[in-house]
Amino acid sequence: MKSFLIGVAIGVLLLFLFISFGLGSKADQPISFNHKKHSEQGLGCDACHPFFKAQTFSGMPTITNCLECHKDPVTKSPEEEKIREFQQKEKEIPWKRIYEQPDHVFFSHRRHVVLGKQSCQTCHGEIGQSEKPPAGPWVTMTMKWCMDCHAKSKVTNDCLACHV
Ligand code: HEC
Ligand code: HEC
Ligand code: HEC
Ligand code: HEC
Ligand code: HEC
Repeated sequence: MKSFLIGVAIGVLLLFLFISFGLGSKADQPISFNHKKHSEQGLGCDACHPFFKAQTFSGMPTITNCLECHKDPVTKSPEEEKIREFQQKEKEIPWKRIYEQPDHVFFSHRRHVVLGKQSCQTCHGEIGQSEKPPAGPWVTMTMKWCMDCHAKSKVTNDCLACHV
Protein backbone atom coordinates (compact mmCIF):
# COMPACT_ATOMS: atom_id res chain seq x y z
CA MET A 1 0.00 0.00 0.00
CA LYS A 2 2.76 2.41 1.00
CA SER A 3 4.81 1.81 -2.16
CA PHE A 4 1.63 2.17 -4.19
CA LEU A 5 1.02 5.63 -2.68
CA ILE A 6 4.63 6.62 -3.31
CA GLY A 7 4.23 5.42 -6.88
CA VAL A 8 1.12 7.57 -7.33
CA ALA A 9 2.89 10.56 -5.78
CA ILE A 10 5.84 10.21 -8.15
CA GLY A 11 3.44 9.80 -11.08
CA VAL A 12 1.63 13.02 -10.15
CA LEU A 13 4.92 14.86 -9.72
CA LEU A 14 6.19 13.68 -13.12
CA LEU A 15 2.91 14.70 -14.75
CA PHE A 16 3.16 18.12 -13.12
CA LEU A 17 6.76 18.59 -14.26
CA PHE A 18 5.81 17.46 -17.75
CA ILE A 19 2.94 19.96 -17.95
CA SER A 20 4.87 22.91 -16.52
CA PHE A 21 7.85 22.15 -18.74
CA GLY A 22 5.51 22.04 -21.72
CA LEU A 23 3.98 25.41 -20.85
CA GLY A 24 7.27 27.00 -19.84
CA SER A 25 9.05 26.05 -23.02
CA LYS A 26 6.31 27.40 -25.28
CA ALA A 27 7.74 30.90 -25.62
CA ASP A 28 11.34 30.18 -24.63
CA GLN A 29 13.26 32.55 -26.86
CA PRO A 30 16.59 31.65 -28.51
CA ILE A 31 18.29 34.55 -26.69
CA SER A 32 17.35 36.01 -23.33
CA PHE A 33 16.69 39.47 -24.70
CA ASN A 34 16.46 42.45 -22.35
CA HIS A 35 14.13 45.21 -23.62
CA LYS A 36 14.87 47.45 -20.64
CA LYS A 37 18.64 47.69 -21.24
CA HIS A 38 17.99 48.60 -24.87
CA SER A 39 15.31 51.17 -24.00
CA GLU A 40 17.86 52.73 -21.64
CA GLN A 41 20.16 53.16 -24.64
CA GLY A 42 17.53 55.52 -26.00
CA LEU A 43 16.37 53.13 -28.73
CA GLY A 44 12.81 53.64 -29.96
CA CYS A 45 10.61 50.63 -30.64
CA ASP A 46 11.08 51.18 -34.38
CA ALA A 47 14.82 50.47 -34.09
CA CYS A 48 13.86 46.77 -34.02
CA HIS A 49 10.18 46.72 -35.02
CA PRO A 50 10.46 49.09 -37.98
CA PHE A 51 7.20 48.74 -39.92
CA PHE A 52 4.29 49.93 -37.77
CA LYS A 53 4.18 53.45 -39.22
CA ALA A 54 3.59 52.25 -42.75
CA GLN A 55 2.35 48.65 -42.61
CA THR A 56 -0.20 46.41 -40.96
CA PHE A 57 2.57 44.61 -39.05
CA SER A 58 5.43 45.81 -36.85
CA GLY A 59 8.01 43.15 -37.72
CA MET A 60 10.48 41.21 -35.61
CA PRO A 61 14.18 42.20 -35.62
CA THR A 62 16.48 40.47 -38.09
CA ILE A 63 20.00 39.41 -37.14
CA THR A 64 21.33 42.27 -39.28
CA ASN A 65 19.47 44.61 -36.91
CA CYS A 66 21.27 43.17 -33.89
CA LEU A 67 24.66 43.08 -35.64
CA GLU A 68 24.57 46.83 -36.20
CA CYS A 69 25.71 47.05 -32.58
CA HIS A 70 26.83 43.51 -31.74
CA LYS A 71 29.29 42.68 -34.53
CA ASP A 72 31.91 42.98 -31.78
CA PRO A 73 31.16 42.28 -28.11
CA VAL A 74 29.80 45.18 -26.05
CA THR A 75 29.27 43.08 -22.90
CA LYS A 76 30.60 39.83 -21.44
CA SER A 77 27.16 38.24 -21.63
CA PRO A 78 27.06 34.71 -23.10
CA GLU A 79 23.58 35.60 -24.36
CA GLU A 80 25.13 38.33 -26.48
CA GLU A 81 27.68 35.82 -27.83
CA LYS A 82 24.78 33.75 -29.20
CA ILE A 83 24.05 36.50 -31.75
CA ARG A 84 27.46 35.98 -33.33
CA GLU A 85 27.04 32.19 -33.14
CA PHE A 86 23.87 32.49 -35.25
CA GLN A 87 25.80 34.76 -37.61
CA GLN A 88 28.60 32.21 -38.03
CA LYS A 89 26.02 29.54 -38.86
CA GLU A 90 24.46 32.07 -41.27
CA LYS A 91 21.11 31.67 -39.55
CA GLU A 92 18.38 34.08 -38.58
CA ILE A 93 17.55 34.22 -34.87
CA PRO A 94 14.35 32.14 -34.64
CA TRP A 95 12.24 34.43 -32.42
CA LYS A 96 8.94 32.91 -31.41
CA ARG A 97 5.84 35.05 -31.84
CA ILE A 98 3.67 35.49 -28.77
CA TYR A 99 1.00 37.73 -30.28
CA GLU A 100 -0.46 36.25 -33.42
CA GLN A 101 -4.01 36.44 -34.70
CA PRO A 102 -5.59 33.72 -36.82
CA ASP A 103 -5.55 34.27 -40.61
CA HIS A 104 -9.23 35.24 -40.74
CA VAL A 105 -8.59 38.36 -38.63
CA PHE A 106 -7.42 41.64 -40.18
CA PHE A 107 -5.40 43.83 -37.86
CA SER A 108 -3.36 46.89 -38.83
CA HIS A 109 -0.67 48.49 -36.70
CA ARG A 110 -0.57 51.58 -38.89
CA ARG A 111 -4.31 52.08 -38.47
CA HIS A 112 -4.11 51.89 -34.67
CA VAL A 113 -0.81 53.61 -34.01
CA VAL A 114 -0.76 56.34 -36.67
CA LEU A 115 -4.44 57.06 -37.34
CA GLY A 116 -5.90 55.85 -34.02
CA LYS A 117 -3.01 57.32 -31.97
CA GLN A 118 -2.98 54.27 -29.66
CA SER A 119 0.27 53.76 -27.77
CA CYS A 120 2.13 50.44 -27.88
CA GLN A 121 1.59 50.16 -24.12
CA THR A 122 -2.19 50.23 -24.47
CA CYS A 123 -2.07 46.83 -26.13
CA HIS A 124 1.33 45.38 -25.17
CA GLY A 125 1.85 46.73 -21.66
CA GLU A 126 5.30 47.79 -20.48
CA ILE A 127 7.18 45.29 -22.66
CA GLY A 128 9.79 47.99 -23.32
CA GLN A 129 10.72 47.66 -19.63
CA SER A 130 10.91 43.82 -19.59
CA GLU A 131 14.24 42.36 -18.50
CA LYS A 132 13.65 38.98 -20.06
CA PRO A 133 11.30 37.70 -22.77
CA PRO A 134 7.75 37.17 -21.48
CA ALA A 135 6.86 33.46 -21.17
CA GLY A 136 3.52 34.16 -22.82
CA PRO A 137 1.22 37.01 -23.81
CA TRP A 138 0.60 39.65 -21.12
CA VAL A 139 -2.62 40.72 -22.80
CA THR A 140 -5.15 38.15 -24.04
CA MET A 141 -6.18 39.58 -27.38
CA THR A 142 -9.63 38.08 -27.82
CA MET A 143 -12.43 39.28 -30.09
CA LYS A 144 -14.17 40.71 -27.00
CA TRP A 145 -11.03 42.69 -26.15
CA CYS A 146 -10.99 44.25 -29.63
CA MET A 147 -14.73 44.95 -29.59
CA ASP A 148 -14.78 46.48 -26.11
CA CYS A 149 -12.25 49.12 -27.10
CA HIS A 150 -14.00 49.73 -30.41
CA ALA A 151 -17.33 50.27 -28.62
CA LYS A 152 -15.67 52.68 -26.18
CA SER A 153 -13.86 54.54 -28.99
CA LYS A 154 -16.98 54.60 -31.23
CA VAL A 155 -15.21 52.56 -33.92
CA THR A 156 -17.10 50.08 -36.08
CA ASN A 157 -17.82 46.57 -34.78
CA ASP A 158 -19.01 45.35 -38.16
CA CYS A 159 -17.94 41.71 -38.58
CA LEU A 160 -16.44 42.44 -41.98
CA ALA A 161 -14.16 45.19 -40.65
CA CYS A 162 -12.10 42.61 -38.76
CA HIS A 163 -12.78 39.40 -40.67
CA VAL A 164 -11.47 38.83 -44.15
C1 HEC B 1 16.99 46.35 -29.65
C2 HEC B 1 15.82 45.73 -30.24
C3 HEC B 1 14.42 45.96 -29.68
C4 HEC B 1 13.83 47.15 -29.31
C5 HEC B 1 14.45 48.54 -29.28
C6 HEC B 1 12.46 46.82 -28.95
N1 HEC B 1 12.24 45.47 -29.12
FE1 HEC B 1 10.47 44.48 -28.85
N2 HEC B 1 11.39 42.70 -29.23
C7 HEC B 1 12.72 42.55 -29.53
C8 HEC B 1 13.06 41.14 -29.50
C9 HEC B 1 14.44 40.55 -29.75
C10 HEC B 1 11.86 40.44 -29.19
C11 HEC B 1 11.69 38.92 -28.97
C12 HEC B 1 12.21 38.54 -27.58
C13 HEC B 1 11.38 39.07 -26.44
O1 HEC B 1 10.17 38.86 -26.40
O2 HEC B 1 11.95 39.74 -25.52
C14 HEC B 1 10.82 41.45 -29.05
C15 HEC B 1 9.49 41.18 -28.78
C16 HEC B 1 8.49 42.15 -28.72
C17 HEC B 1 7.06 41.88 -28.67
C18 HEC B 1 6.40 40.51 -28.74
C19 HEC B 1 6.01 40.23 -30.19
C20 HEC B 1 5.47 38.85 -30.43
O3 HEC B 1 4.36 38.71 -31.01
O4 HEC B 1 6.13 37.88 -30.07
C21 HEC B 1 6.43 43.08 -28.58
C22 HEC B 1 4.94 43.31 -28.50
C23 HEC B 1 7.47 44.11 -28.55
N3 HEC B 1 8.69 43.50 -28.66
C24 HEC B 1 7.21 45.45 -28.43
C25 HEC B 1 8.20 46.43 -28.30
C26 HEC B 1 7.92 47.81 -27.94
C27 HEC B 1 6.57 48.37 -27.64
C28 HEC B 1 9.13 48.46 -27.95
C29 HEC B 1 9.41 49.90 -27.60
C30 HEC B 1 8.97 50.33 -26.27
C31 HEC B 1 10.16 47.47 -28.32
N4 HEC B 1 9.55 46.26 -28.49
C32 HEC B 1 11.52 47.74 -28.49
C33 HEC B 1 13.62 43.57 -29.83
C34 HEC B 1 13.41 44.90 -29.56
C1 HEC C 1 21.69 50.45 -31.33
C2 HEC C 1 22.55 49.44 -30.74
C3 HEC C 1 21.97 48.09 -30.36
C4 HEC C 1 21.16 47.26 -31.09
C5 HEC C 1 20.54 47.52 -32.46
C6 HEC C 1 21.01 46.03 -30.33
N1 HEC C 1 21.73 46.14 -29.15
FE1 HEC C 1 21.92 44.68 -27.72
N2 HEC C 1 23.01 45.95 -26.57
C7 HEC C 1 23.41 47.22 -26.92
C8 HEC C 1 24.18 47.82 -25.85
C9 HEC C 1 24.81 49.19 -25.84
C10 HEC C 1 24.23 46.85 -24.80
C11 HEC C 1 24.89 46.97 -23.42
C12 HEC C 1 23.82 47.48 -22.48
C13 HEC C 1 24.19 47.48 -21.04
O1 HEC C 1 25.14 46.78 -20.64
O2 HEC C 1 23.49 48.17 -20.27
C14 HEC C 1 23.51 45.68 -25.31
C15 HEC C 1 23.39 44.49 -24.61
C16 HEC C 1 22.85 43.33 -25.13
C17 HEC C 1 22.89 42.02 -24.47
C18 HEC C 1 23.48 41.71 -23.12
C19 HEC C 1 22.40 42.07 -22.13
C20 HEC C 1 22.65 41.65 -20.75
O3 HEC C 1 21.70 41.07 -20.19
O4 HEC C 1 23.72 41.93 -20.19
C21 HEC C 1 22.22 41.14 -25.30
C22 HEC C 1 21.96 39.66 -25.07
C23 HEC C 1 21.78 41.90 -26.46
N3 HEC C 1 22.19 43.21 -26.33
C24 HEC C 1 21.05 41.36 -27.49
C25 HEC C 1 20.60 42.08 -28.60
C26 HEC C 1 19.79 41.53 -29.67
C27 HEC C 1 19.31 40.09 -29.72
C28 HEC C 1 19.59 42.52 -30.57
C29 HEC C 1 18.76 42.45 -31.84
C30 HEC C 1 17.36 42.09 -31.65
C31 HEC C 1 20.25 43.71 -30.08
N4 HEC C 1 20.85 43.41 -28.89
C32 HEC C 1 20.28 44.94 -30.73
C33 HEC C 1 23.13 47.86 -28.11
C34 HEC C 1 22.32 47.37 -29.13
C1 HEC D 1 -4.64 48.24 -30.70
C2 HEC D 1 -3.70 47.28 -30.18
C3 HEC D 1 -2.24 47.33 -30.56
C4 HEC D 1 -1.38 48.43 -30.54
C5 HEC D 1 -1.71 49.87 -30.20
C6 HEC D 1 -0.08 47.92 -30.89
N1 HEC D 1 -0.14 46.57 -31.14
FE1 HEC D 1 1.39 45.36 -31.65
N2 HEC D 1 0.11 43.78 -31.92
C7 HEC D 1 -1.25 43.85 -31.72
C8 HEC D 1 -1.88 42.64 -32.25
C9 HEC D 1 -3.37 42.32 -32.25
C10 HEC D 1 -0.83 41.84 -32.75
C11 HEC D 1 -0.96 40.50 -33.48
C12 HEC D 1 -1.19 40.86 -34.95
C13 HEC D 1 -1.36 39.73 -35.90
O1 HEC D 1 -1.07 38.58 -35.59
O2 HEC D 1 -1.78 40.01 -37.05
C14 HEC D 1 0.41 42.58 -32.50
C15 HEC D 1 1.68 42.13 -32.84
C16 HEC D 1 2.86 42.84 -32.62
C17 HEC D 1 4.19 42.36 -32.88
C18 HEC D 1 4.52 40.99 -33.45
C19 HEC D 1 5.18 41.07 -34.82
C20 HEC D 1 4.51 41.82 -35.95
O3 HEC D 1 5.05 41.73 -37.05
O4 HEC D 1 3.51 42.54 -35.85
C21 HEC D 1 5.07 43.36 -32.52
C22 HEC D 1 6.59 43.33 -32.62
C23 HEC D 1 4.28 44.47 -32.07
N3 HEC D 1 2.94 44.13 -32.14
C24 HEC D 1 4.81 45.69 -31.67
C25 HEC D 1 4.06 46.84 -31.45
C26 HEC D 1 4.62 48.18 -31.30
C27 HEC D 1 6.11 48.52 -31.33
C28 HEC D 1 3.58 49.04 -31.11
C29 HEC D 1 3.61 50.55 -30.94
C30 HEC D 1 4.25 51.29 -32.03
C31 HEC D 1 2.36 48.23 -31.14
N4 HEC D 1 2.70 46.92 -31.39
C32 HEC D 1 1.06 48.72 -30.98
C33 HEC D 1 -1.94 44.89 -31.12
C34 HEC D 1 -1.44 46.17 -30.95
C1 HEC E 1 -7.28 50.10 -27.25
C2 HEC E 1 -8.29 50.24 -28.25
C3 HEC E 1 -8.37 49.30 -29.43
C4 HEC E 1 -8.17 47.94 -29.43
C5 HEC E 1 -7.79 47.04 -28.27
C6 HEC E 1 -8.39 47.49 -30.79
N1 HEC E 1 -8.71 48.56 -31.59
FE1 HEC E 1 -9.12 48.47 -33.59
N2 HEC E 1 -9.33 50.50 -33.63
C7 HEC E 1 -9.21 51.34 -32.54
C8 HEC E 1 -9.37 52.72 -32.99
C9 HEC E 1 -9.30 53.96 -32.11
C10 HEC E 1 -9.59 52.66 -34.38
C11 HEC E 1 -9.82 53.84 -35.34
C12 HEC E 1 -8.53 54.28 -35.96
C13 HEC E 1 -8.73 55.43 -36.92
O1 HEC E 1 -8.88 56.55 -36.45
O2 HEC E 1 -8.76 55.18 -38.12
C14 HEC E 1 -9.57 51.26 -34.75
C15 HEC E 1 -9.79 50.79 -36.05
C16 HEC E 1 -9.80 49.45 -36.41
C17 HEC E 1 -10.13 48.96 -37.73
C18 HEC E 1 -10.57 49.82 -38.92
C19 HEC E 1 -12.06 49.96 -38.78
C20 HEC E 1 -12.72 50.71 -39.93
O3 HEC E 1 -13.26 51.80 -39.68
O4 HEC E 1 -12.67 50.19 -41.04
C21 HEC E 1 -10.01 47.59 -37.69
C22 HEC E 1 -10.25 46.61 -38.82
C23 HEC E 1 -9.61 47.23 -36.35
N3 HEC E 1 -9.50 48.39 -35.61
C24 HEC E 1 -9.38 45.94 -35.92
C25 HEC E 1 -9.02 45.59 -34.61
C26 HEC E 1 -8.78 44.23 -34.17
C27 HEC E 1 -8.86 42.99 -35.04
C28 HEC E 1 -8.46 44.30 -32.84
C29 HEC E 1 -8.09 43.19 -31.89
C30 HEC E 1 -7.11 42.23 -32.32
C31 HEC E 1 -8.51 45.71 -32.47
N4 HEC E 1 -8.86 46.46 -33.57
C32 HEC E 1 -8.27 46.18 -31.19
C33 HEC E 1 -8.97 50.97 -31.25
C34 HEC E 1 -8.70 49.68 -30.79
C1 HEC F 1 -12.96 44.50 -33.69
C2 HEC F 1 -12.62 43.28 -34.37
C3 HEC F 1 -13.64 42.18 -34.51
C4 HEC F 1 -14.97 42.30 -34.87
C5 HEC F 1 -15.75 43.58 -35.14
C6 HEC F 1 -15.48 40.95 -34.96
N1 HEC F 1 -14.50 40.05 -34.67
FE1 HEC F 1 -14.70 38.01 -34.68
N2 HEC F 1 -12.76 37.81 -34.02
C7 HEC F 1 -11.91 38.85 -33.80
C8 HEC F 1 -10.65 38.32 -33.31
C9 HEC F 1 -9.42 39.12 -32.93
C10 HEC F 1 -10.79 36.90 -33.28
C11 HEC F 1 -9.72 35.88 -32.87
C12 HEC F 1 -9.53 35.85 -31.38
C13 HEC F 1 -10.63 35.12 -30.69
O1 HEC F 1 -10.99 34.02 -31.13
O2 HEC F 1 -11.15 35.66 -29.68
C14 HEC F 1 -12.15 36.62 -33.73
C15 HEC F 1 -12.69 35.33 -33.84
C16 HEC F 1 -13.92 35.06 -34.40
C17 HEC F 1 -14.44 33.73 -34.68
C18 HEC F 1 -13.69 32.44 -34.41
C19 HEC F 1 -13.92 32.03 -32.99
C20 HEC F 1 -13.20 30.78 -32.67
O3 HEC F 1 -13.52 30.22 -31.62
O4 HEC F 1 -12.32 30.37 -33.43
C21 HEC F 1 -15.68 33.86 -35.23
C22 HEC F 1 -16.60 32.75 -35.68
C23 HEC F 1 -15.95 35.29 -35.28
N3 HEC F 1 -14.87 35.99 -34.79
C24 HEC F 1 -17.13 35.84 -35.77
C25 HEC F 1 -17.44 37.18 -35.74
C26 HEC F 1 -18.77 37.75 -36.12
C27 HEC F 1 -19.96 36.93 -36.59
C28 HEC F 1 -18.67 39.09 -35.96
C29 HEC F 1 -19.76 40.17 -36.13
C30 HEC F 1 -20.88 40.02 -35.23
C31 HEC F 1 -17.29 39.39 -35.51
N4 HEC F 1 -16.61 38.21 -35.40
C32 HEC F 1 -16.81 40.66 -35.30
C33 HEC F 1 -12.15 40.19 -34.01
C34 HEC F 1 -13.37 40.75 -34.38
